[in-house]
Amino acid sequence: MTEKKFFIKSYGCQMNVYDSNQIKNLLLNEGYNEALLEKDADLIVLNTCHIREKASEKVHSDIGRINKLKKTMSQNKNYSLVLAGCVAQAEGEEFKKRSPSIDYIVGPQSYHKLPDMINKNEYNIADDFLQNDKFNNLVFKNSNTVSEFISVQEGCDKFCTFCVVPYTRGSEYSRSIDDILNEIKIYMQSGIQEIILLGQNVNAFHGINSIGKEVDLSFLINKIAELEKIKRIRYMTSHPIDMTDSLMKCHRDNEKLMPFLHLPIQSGSDHILKKMNRKHTVQEYYKVIEKLKGYRSDMALSSDFIVGFPGETDEDFDKTMRFIENIKFVIAYSFIYSPRPGTPAAKLEQISNPIKKARLAALQSLLKKQQKEYNDSFLNKKIEILFEKKGRYKNQYIGRSIYNQSVHVKSNLNLIGSLKKVKISSNTNFSLEGKMYE
Ligand code: SAH
Ligand code: SF4
Ligand code: F3S
Repeated sequence: MTEKKFFIKSYGCQMNVYDSNQIKNLLLNEGYNEALLEKDADLIVLNTCHIREKASEKVHSDIGRINKLKKTMSQNKNYSLVLAGCVAQAEGEEFKKRSPSIDYIVGPQSYHKLPDMINKNEYNIADDFLQNDKFNNLVFKNSNTVSEFISVQEGCDKFCTFCVVPYTRGSEYSRSIDDILNEIKIYMQSGIQEIILLGQNVNAFHGINSIGKEVDLSFLINKIAELEKIKRIRYMTSHPIDMTDSLMKCHRDNEKLMPFLHLPIQSGSDHILKKMNRKHTVQEYYKVIEKLKGYRSDMALSSDFIVGFPGETDEDFDKTMRFIENIKFVIAYSFIYSPRPGTPAAKLEQISNPIKKARLAALQSLLKKQQKEYNDSFLNKKIEILFEKKGRYKNQYIGRSIYNQSVHVKSNLNLIGSLKKVKISSNTNFSLEGKMYE
């Protein structure tokens, strides 16, 4: 039998990176090998993202490109295309109509069925949300990395009026503590030291413990921290209304939990937050931050912003800018509002593109300035770095500070997997450069 090969391309968020890894493990388990290039593969998997229009458009153009590639291949090569991920869930059938070259469609909660579908030649089960079934059928494999993402919570019941996630990932689901710990133990065999817990609303985590009692994210974090080999724990993404006192206290009491929080707010105006159905006010967000800093004063904060949401006035936008100035985020992600099919906000009157673009530019320049000021404040300071990988240049290694900053150093010794003190020497292009400190 000739060797079968797959190629997988991942779009979108970290959860998709995790899912792509799991799809890869499932295929390896079926006897496939990974191809380094698309043209060498028998199976190409596109693990797609639906969050903004651009992300979906990219999938269309990639399918077009792959179809051309297909024409150049030898006639007898049995070559299949899998549409996976959030686009598959939301618009799988529409995509299949436009691109008949798609052979299989699997959603984010049904990709564990892919090997079976290939064997039986069934093409679509994208309608199912099978979270429980999925996690029971994944094949976790030893990892070779220092830091590993683990999905612990999936789906969303919040229904922000701009967002497709509740439709693409289904309702909120939390894995059990035992299930998560078993997965971590597999990675520990290969020396994993940092765990990044993933969820669309990770702080709404409510899995069951070994005696069937429902527990929260702080319980899970404390359990993981008991594992001696795990040195650092992070989690993302959180929702402001789910920031519980027990989780905030965890930042004070558990030294393995890193002092970094990604807490999207989207807008600094109550009028817009209400239209977005975010379920909290700006004041309530400030209160969360105040309380959290009371527990851990050096918390580094990050957020997401959407500009140009329907009805956003100059005054609303100014409020967002003033809010950013007050909080001083160490990093943040900002997006132009993209109307998405099936979401309530898409039906509202839209703001013109030039206004959206001008607002994004102003907001990003403020965020950049804050990030630079924050990173500059580390110059000549000594901070502890967990080294994860080699850099682009000879003898260069890249790691992260406890505040999640990326730090580069030069070293003759292999630093991967080590925790070392580094003296920060410069701040260029938003990554810090350091020198080994003895
Ligand atoms: N569950 C997380 C993240 C969801 S998606 C949360 O609740 O915050 C990641 C980010 O994409 C969001 O925080 C939001 O800023 C952005 N986003 C989501 N839908 C969008 C849309 N229609 N247009 C522009 N940005 C969007
Ligand atoms: Fe989307 Fe809102 Fe749910 Fe986040 S909380 S995934 S933005 S619906
Ligand atoms: Fe995109 Fe789905 Fe993640 S829409 S951002 S891949 S949850």
